[in-house]
Amino acid sequence: MTTTRFLTGITPSGTPHLGNYAGMMRPAIAATREPGVENFYFLADYHALIKCQEPERVHRSTLEIAASWLAAGLDPERVTFYRQSDIPEIPELTWFLTCVTGKGLLNRAHAYKAAQDKNAEAGRESDDGVTAGLFMYPVLMAADILLFNAHRVPVGRDQIQHIEMARDMAASFNHLYGEHFTLPEAAIEDNVATLLGLDGRKMSKSYDNTIPLFCAPAQLRKLIGSIVTDSRAPGEPKETEGSALFQIYQAFATPEQTAAMRRAYADGIAWGDAKQMLFECIDREIAPMRARYDDLMAHPEKVEAALQIGAGRARAIARPFLQTLRAAVGLRPLSAAQPQAQGAQKAGKAALPAFKQYREADGKFYFKLVAADGRLLLQSTGFAAPRDAGQAIARLQKEAGALQALAPQLAPVAGVDAGEVSAALQALADTANT
Ligand code: TRP
Repeated sequence: MTTTRFLTGITPSGTPHLGNYAGMMRPAIAATREPGVENFYFLADYHALIKCQEPERVHRSTLEIAASWLAAGLDPERVTFYRQSDIPEIPELTWFLTCVTGKGLLNRAHAYKAAQDKNAEAGRESDDGVTAGLFMYPVLMAADILLFNAHRVPVGRDQIQHIEMARDMAASFNHLYGEHFTLPEAAIEDNVATLLGLDGRKMSKSYDNTIPLFCAPAQLRKLIGSIVTDSRAPGEPKETEGSALFQIYQAFATPEQTAAMRRAYADGIAWGDAKQMLFECIDREIAPMRARYDDLMAHPEKVEAALQIGAGRARAIARPFLQTLRAAVGLRPLSAAQPQAQGAQKAGKAALPAFKQYREADGKFYFKLVAADGRLLLQSTGFAAPRDAGQAIARLQKEAGALQALAPQLAPVAGVDAGEVSAALQALADTANT
C-alpha cells in the first residue's frame, strides 16, 4: 500500500485561540486518524525567530503550542511530532537549496513584497527593517518540506505560494543533482470553519478579538459574554446570518444542536441565554483537554520528552538522507569514489534514457530527454504550464510521429541524429509496455 505523507509546520508565536483550534488543530488531528496517511507535524521555531526576537516569548510559546496540540489529542505515536530546531539537517538543507534558488524567485515572495510595499507607502527605503531571515523564509520552509519528501502540505491559502516555491527548488535541485526530492503539493482544507471573533470580524490575534483555547472557565464565560450582538430584546426574532455567536456555536455543536439554536433564534431567544448555551457547548468539548493542558504546562518535561521522541524519529530519516544529498552535491570524504549515478544505472536495471522536467529562471517549464550515459538527446522550448510539458512528454512516449508533430516545440541538439532519438523513445515505450 502506498501512504501519503502529510507534513505541516506550526509557528510558535502567541497563544492558540478557539479559531486556531476549530480551523486548524481539530481537523489536522482528525486527519491523523485516517488510513493510508503518515503525518509529520512540527513546531517551526526557527521560523518564529523571523518575527519574534524576545527569547522568553519564543520559549514560552513553543511550550504552549506543543502542550496545546498534545492536549487537543495529537497522538505522538501516530504523528511524528517534533521541533524544527532539534533537526540540524534542516538548516543544512536550507543552504543547499539557497544555492539553487534564484534570488529573483525570492524577490517575488508575498511576505517580502508586503514588507517592501509598506516601506514604499511610508516613504522609506524599500528594504528598511527587512531582515535576510524574512527574505529567506521560503527557502527554510522548502527545506522543512523537502527533507522529508512530503507529498502533501496542509496550509492556509496565504502559504500556497511557498509550496510552489518549494516545488521550484526541488525541481532545480533534481535537475542539477538527480531525482532526490518529491515535488510537494499544497493541501487546502476549504470546508473548515474560520471563526468570527468577539467583535464580529475574523477571529485573529492581530484584531485582538480572540478567545484563548485554554483559558479558565470563568474567563471563557466572561469573554463569551462580551461577544457583540445587536440590541434585539428577548422575544424578538434574531438573525443567524452574520451572528458571531451563532457561527461559533455551529463550530462546536452537533448538526441537531445547531438546528435547535437556529429555531431558538427565530423564536427570539434572549442573548444572555444563547451565550450560556454557547459557553456550555464549548466547555463540554474543551474541559477534558484543558485538564490535560494544565497538567502539561505544570510538567514541561513531559512535553519535552514527547518532542524528543519525535526528533529521534525525524532524524532517523533526515540524517541518512542528508548524507546522500551531501554526496550528491560533491561534499564527501576525499577517499570516496564518485557516487553511483542515479536512476538508470542502478544495479539490475537496464540502462534507459529518461525524461526530465524542470523550470528555468524565465519562469517557463521545460523538459529534456537524456540518454542513459547522460548525453542530451532532446531539448524542449519553454512551455507556459507544467501540464503542457507533461502532455508533450506523454505524446512522445506514446504516439508514433509525435516527434515530427512536436518539432516546433523542440530545440535542435547538436550532434544527435533523429534515428538515435527515435530509438530512445522506442526503448522507453517498450519498457512501459512490459
Ligand atoms: N510558514 C508556515 C506558517 O506561517 C509555517 C511553516 C513553516 C510551515 N514551515 C512549514 C508550514 C512547512 C508547512 C510546511 O503558517
